[in-house]
Amino acid sequence: MTPAIQEGMMLATTDLAPAIGTEIRADLDTLLGGSHAAALRDLLERRGVLVFPALDLSREQQVAFARTLGDIVGQGENGIFKVTLDPRENVVADYLRGAFYWHIDGAMDDVPTRASLLTARTLSDSGGETQFANTYAAYDALPEAERETLDQLRVVHSFESAQMMVYPEVSHADLLKWRAIYAPKVHPLVWRHRSGRRSLVLGASASHVEGMAYQEGRDLLRRLRDWATQPRFVYQHSWTVGDLVIWDNTGTMHRVTPYALDSGRMMHRTTLVGEEVLA
Ligand code: OGA
Ligand code: MN
Repeated sequence: MTPAIQEGMMLATTDLAPAIGTEIRADLDTLLGGSHAAALRDLLERRGVLVFPALDLSREQQVAFARTLGDIVGQGENGIFKVTLDPRENVVADYLRGAFYWHIDGAMDDVPTRASLLTARTLSDSGGETQFANTYAAYDALPEAERETLDQLRVVHSFESAQMMVYPEVSHADLLKWRAIYAPKVHPLVWRHRSGRRSLVLGASASHVEGMAYQEGRDLLRRLRDWATQPRFVYQHSWTVGDLVIWDNTGTMHRVTPYALDSGRMMHRTTLVGEEVLA
């Protein structure tokens, strides 16, 4: 594919894959000034992932830039949450291993987070690429009859479903702890956004389909995950230190390719508060 440069909106943009991902080159001061915020939010909604190569934001600049796009979640240190597998750097590091599997963030929330901004600080020697799948495009490409069936279904999401991928032999005591952290949540399989667009809600937290035979529901969820994560709906980001990537958490899912637990990989995340009930 030959990337097209579109400069009509004063941002130099290059699409990275047909259905997802747009690279943006823009002057840092202009970004921090917020004059592009509306255009960036629109582009994020349409393209799922925005990539700013080697933007090299400081922590404060990352939070300031995030605030031009929306309200930020008060997590981590002054809005910077350390995405790392090192428990000395983040007390919930052990749970972050769940990121090796396709997921959306905050899947047990009524209002999942809007988007996240991630800057690469230290990379792993191998692996550690982040993959994103466009769940709007995956829904739109389904046959109409199937879309109509899926529109009616509701899915049980649980923290335990996601964490069991990492810790299949969890102790009963830990299982009870997980359930206390996040109660399971039922969501529609198809998110009807305020915009009128629809997207699939899948990922490791998706346990089974309400009211359907358990195994049949799990089979359906896996088939749809395979569908939604076909190369034609996916962008994979291979990081350079200083890259900033923003993903729309309401219209994509993501995972990170395997990397060593002791690799020292460190990413800084700032998250935008959700704006839309998953309904
Ligand atoms: C996250 C996440 C992936 C990565 O921060 O929510 O899934 O590549 N990160 O670290
Ligand atoms: Mn994640």
